[in-house]
Parts: sequence; C-alpha cells; structure tokens
Amino acid sequence: MTQESKIPDSVVRIMRHKGKIGQGIDHPAVFPVALPQHVLEAYADAGDIVFKSFCGSGTTLLAAQRTGRVARATEIAPEYVDVAVKRFRQNFAEVPVTLAATGQTFEAVAVKRAVSSGNAPAGTRRDPP
Ligand SMILES: C[S@@+](CC[C@H](N)C(=O)[O-])C[C@H]1O[C@@H](n2cnc3c(N)ncnc32)[C@H](O)[C@@H]1O
Repeated sequence: MTQESKIPDSVVRIMRHKGKIGQGIDHPAVFPVALPQHVLEAYADAGDIVFKSFCGSGTTLLAAQRTGRVARATEIAPEYVDVAVKRFRQNFAEVPVTLAATGQTFEAVAVKRAVSSGNAPAGTRRDPP
C-alpha cells in the first residue's frame, strides 16, 4: 500500500490566528487550527487518539474533530476549559458534549456548579420560601 501523504517539510508556514475565536469567548494565546491539523494529518491516522496537554482554547480539539482523530486534553484553568468547550460547541453544534463521569450536558453541569457555589442565576436557585 502506498503512503497517501507526503512527509512534511521541516519548516511549517502557517498564518497565525487572527480575530475572534467565537461568540463571548477568548484566550490570550490561540494557535491557528491549521497548525495542529497539519501535525495530526502528518503523524496520526483517522481514529487515532492524540493527547494535548496545555489545551487552552481547544484548538487541537477542533483539529482532531476536523480530521477524524480523537483528542484527549488537559487544561489547568477551569475558565479556559469552559472556553474550549464553548468554542467546540460553536464549531460542531451537532456533536454532543457531556461530562464523561456522569453523562450530564454542559448546561446541566454549569447550573449544578453555579448552585453549589451560590452563583446560580435567578430561576435556578433554591431560594427559601
Ligand atoms: C499557550 S496556551 C495554549 C494555547 C492553545 N494552543 C490554543 O490554541 O488555545 C497554554 C495553556 O496551558 C495552560 N496550562 C498551563 N499550565 C498547565 C498545566 N500544568 N497543565 C495543563 N494546562 C496548563 C494555560 O492555562 C494555557 O491555557
């Protein structure tokens, strides 16, 4: 069987990311999606599981979804995890996003955590009668 892709050059020229990454979300160090996409296509096959530490705004998650790879990632800042999840959902609304441990949706987890931290929006609080 012949190889479908060429071995990449040692210098990769990709335009840096410019502009917003989505609605109501931001991250200070967003990489262009084309960068991890290039790496995934060069060094992983469709269906492979790839690991991204320092996930940030989830650029590698988008590249993996685009290319049929499966991404696992870590991000230390909870607010950037939210950014990555929201960005993913804005790009792939058809893909369900759930908390692996419980199967709950992003919204359900957000409400539950807001309630337990005392920051629940009106209508979701359990105010005393
Ligand atoms: C340069 S940014 C990554 C940007 C990412 N490539 C993108 O396109 O959005 C580095 C990220 O690593 C996270 N980070 C720093 N230390 C970490 C750690 N020990 N484990 C996981 N994530 C960490 C930061 O919060 C930050 O979001």
